[in-house]
Formats: sequence, C-alpha cells, structure tokens
Amino acid sequence: MNTKTAESDQHAEFEQAVMTGLSLPQKSIPCRFLYDERGSDLFEQITQLDEYYPTRTEVALLNAVRYDIAQAVGPGVALVELGSGSSTKTEILIESMSDLAAYVPIEISETALAGATAKLSKKFPDLRIFPVSADFSNTVTFPEEVRQFPKFGFFPGSTIGNFETDDAIGLLATLRRILGENGLLLIGVDLDKSTDILLPAYDDAKNVTAEFIMNILTRINRELDGNFDRSRFSYVVQYNEQFSRVEMYIQSDADQTVEVRGTEFFFKKSERIFVEFSHKYSVEGFKNLANNAGWRSRDYWIDGDNLFSIHLLENTLK
Ligand code: AVJ
Repeated sequence: MNTKTAESDQHAEFEQAVMTGLSLPQKSIPCRFLYDERGSDLFEQITQLDEYYPTRTEVALLNAVRYDIAQAVGPGVALVELGSGSSTKTEILIESMSDLAAYVPIEISETALAGATAKLSKKFPDLRIFPVSADFSNTVTFPEEVRQFPKFGFFPGSTIGNFETDDAIGLLATLRRILGENGLLLIGVDLDKSTDILLPAYDDAKNVTAEFIMNILTRINRELDGNFDRSRFSYVVQYNEQFSRVEMYIQSDADQTVEVRGTEFFFKKSERIFVEFSHKYSVEGFKNLANNAGWRSRDYWIDGDNLFSIHLLENTLK
C-alpha cells in the first residue's frame, strides 16, 4: 500500500469514527486518532514530563535487565519489532543480544519504517534487517529469509493498556499466531498503582496531556469541517477502580451544538466525549490475560519502585 492510499484510508476511517462516535449515547472517539502530526509531537513531549513515569521507567528497566532478557530468549532468533517509533528501546535489545538472526521492524507507515531501517542499519551494519510494511493487528507475511527463525516479538510502551480486556486478549492471540510455534513476546505493561502517581501522570502541571487530548477537536475542525470551540470544552481525567484504568475525557462546559461535516451534534453541559483509557495491571492480572490468549509467562521484570513491568511470554499452543 502506498502512502497516499494509506492516508486517504485513514481520513475516511477518521470521518466514519467521529460521525459514529459522536452519535452514541456515551460520545466517544477512538484514541488511535490522537496521533496526527501535532498529536505525535505532543505525545513525544509527554514522555519527557516529570509526572509521566512510564517511558523513562521502561527504558531504565530494559537497560537494567537486558542481559537477563538476552539469556532467557537465547540465540538465533529474529527480533520482530511491533510498530516502530520505539527504536531507542529496540536498540537496547539489539546491543545486548549478540547472536540475533535478523531484525524485522513491522510498521504501517512506510515513512516511519524507512526511517527506522535507515537508522538501525547505520548503527548496526552487520545486522540483517527485513522491514515489513503491515498492520500487525491483522496478519503479517514474513519475508522468505526469516521464515525459518524463531520469532522474538517486542511490544513495548504499554500500548496494550489502550485495549479493552477482550480486545487485548484478541490482539495478544493475533501476535501469538504471527510469531508462530516457537514464538516469544516481550511486552511492556504499566502496573496498577496509587492515584497519587497515576492521576498527575495523565494530568500534568504544564497541561501537555490536556493539549494532547483536546487536539483531537482541532483535528476534527481541520479535517472534517468541524466548528468545535475549544474554549467551551475542558479536559477531565479520572481513575476507574472497577476496570483499573485511567480514563481521559473532553467535557462540555455548556449546553451547545457543534457541527461536523454538516451534521449537528448536541452537547449538554457536563456531557463528556470518552477519548482514551489506559489500563493498569498487576503482574498476576497481566499473566492471566496473557494465558487467555494462549501465552505462558517465561519470566518478568519490574523496576525497584514497582511502577512498570516487562513480561517475557512463550507460546503454549504449538
Ligand atoms: C501510549 C498508550 C502508553 O496510556 O500512557 C499518555 C498514551 N495518553 N498520556 C498511555 C497516553 C496520555 C500512553 N500509551
């Protein structure tokens, strides 16, 4: 698929998702649409915030346990990176694994894929790199050259937290099928913890997270002829105990009507658009989830402050 097609697909998908989402009794917009150019830049800024512990904790943990990971995984595997944009983390693994058969970045965006490939081939000239442009939530065809190798998948960033339980199990099962019989999966998972830490991480003092979430209204205005007045909406974050997840909303400050693509949507005062949730897991809770998708825990690591976990999973259904 060339970039142009991917872009117009994404545009049609966005329109469809917004028109449907704003028509629901609980208005909502899927969080994958947060990442336009500005959104991706804002997320990058979030990862640097004092309050946002996950990125820096995961990187430090990976660094601390990288040789344990290399030993638990063993030699001769193809490292399969699930979605680039995580290449700093991947480099830590590549450096610690002396006997990698190949590196296979999988990514929808061909531009991001080409970028990751160029960067890593420069840094690791002896590494055999086989980029694959695909959506790993569907199916992936590996190039002939890597089919024989056991696959070692890497899915960092606690992105799995953006999925509802059933969808998370579905995605983990899909990854299990993609990685195959002797497949292994290394996955970063944010741990459940006190709201004293969780809430500021998603509602920072500089309001970068608020801007990241509210930017979706700017994107709707720009791409879908919307007329959201951002000054009449506010960012709201809450922790949902029942589902162990941080929930991020946009709340209407008044009764108002907004037009998107010629359709009017009415908002009552205090009515919310549900934009993102971020599930938090205990170690046992995540192991259970993985078991339900046909994975078994081979090992796991957590940082000294109990903030973040990295799980190494092996396929049980061969
Ligand atoms: C990219 C899903 C891991 O949930 O922590 C950060 C996204 N949203 N701040 C997270 C996010 C608001 C992030 N993940």
